[in-house]
Amino acid sequence: MNPINPIYYGKNGIKEINNFIKKNKPSKIVFLVDENTHEFCYPQIISDIETDTEIEILEIEPGEENKNLYVCINLWEALTELKIDRKGLLINIGGGVLTDMGGFLASCYKRGIDFINIPTTLLAMVDASIGGKTGVDLGSHKNQIGAFSLPQMVAVDTGFLSTLPQEQILSGFAEIIKHGLIADKEYWKEIISLKEIQTEDLEKLIKTSIEIKKQVVSQDFTEGGLRKILNFGHTIGHAIESFFLENKNPVLHGEGVAMGMITESYISVKKGLLSHREYEEVKEYISSLYPKLDLKKEDFEDIFTFMQNDKKNTNNEIKFVLLENIGKAAYDISVDKDLIKEALYMYIDS
Ligand SMILES: NC(=O)c1ccc[n+]([C@@H]2O[C@H](COP(=O)([O-])OP(=O)(O)OC[C@H]3O[C@@H](n4cnc5c(N)ncnc54)[C@H](O)[C@@H]3O)[C@@H](O)[C@H]2O)c1
Ligand SMILES: [Zn+2]
Repeated sequence: MNPINPIYYGKNGIKEINNFIKKNKPSKIVFLVDENTHEFCYPQIISDIETDTEIEILEIEPGEENKNLYVCINLWEALTELKIDRKGLLINIGGGVLTDMGGFLASCYKRGIDFINIPTTLLAMVDASIGGKTGVDLGSHKNQIGAFSLPQMVAVDTGFLSTLPQEQILSGFAEIIKHGLIADKEYWKEIISLKEIQTEDLEKLIKTSIEIKKQVVSQDFTEGGLRKILNFGHTIGHAIESFFLENKNPVLHGEGVAMGMITESYISVKKGLLSHREYEEVKEYISSLYPKLDLKKEDFEDIFTFMQNDKKNTNNEIKFVLLENIGKAAYDISVDKDLIKEALYMYIDS
């Protein structure tokens, strides 16, 4: 069974949402937006929605710091005050912060109401809005509270990327690179052949990336095994993200993942998996796109502590996803502290 609900592209997305509303007759429709998507994306969407159903709108402040239970409680209270019943429909318009939290919100409200995702960042289009992982952060623990819960559908319209800042495009692009590295060498070649990241090219890349994520998730929805490969670059990447966050100098998710993909590729070579030639190719390409992060050798212990807290570890071992070659990943590989340190030092010295 393929557990992923439909994903529609371009104007087809809104058409299918209209069909869904016509067929399912929700009692009310609630749009969840943040300040930015309210301004840049909502006007277009609302003008394309065809319905007589009553519409409400809930707005949150943008940013990861708002992806928490306190904001959820406010939103659940707002849904209650608006008298949203079990036939209500929540439509999430935004990046991963919004689709993660909105999905969670809908899944718990009255034990679950329907929700639809309209991702508006590149990261949400190729990653966060699909696959059914919903949730919020608990303090500095990312995605600590959550549930697997699928939206009724996802409507991907690359038109929304026109207002997205370039650095956010680059952040989402790291996941596209990851998809090539873990699953499809031809795709990787296509990615590295692009001279610039342009919206026209992105349209095709987004479809391929979604296809790869769908393929993986549909084989292992609750991440017992194969789905772990989607975490390539994220063991070190997340630790780096947390480290910079704690030091009040946050980096974008994609920047952490880019660094993580370089260092985890290095570890892949040292573990006798990836060839040195392919590693050089990965390192050269990623370094050409992403700024080198300002890390020092004395930061290693702090970063390592974050890695030890990673949700994916079991039995106190740090488990990695590594590359066997470009286009094929292996998961659940234990890597000792010395080799992780060597990889980080290599990054700092290169
Ligand atoms: N559920 C999953 O499988 C999964 C996968 C990857 C990441 N995530 C989560 O995704 C989150 C990161 O998502 P993100 O990178 O999309 O960040 P985000 O949701 O914070 O969006 C980034 C910024 O772009 C703004 N924005 C959104 N769309 C815009 C548009 N069209 N024009 C202008 N501005 C726009 C937002 O307001 C925000 O300021 C993290 O919380 C991460 O944990 C979840
Ligand atoms: Zn990611």
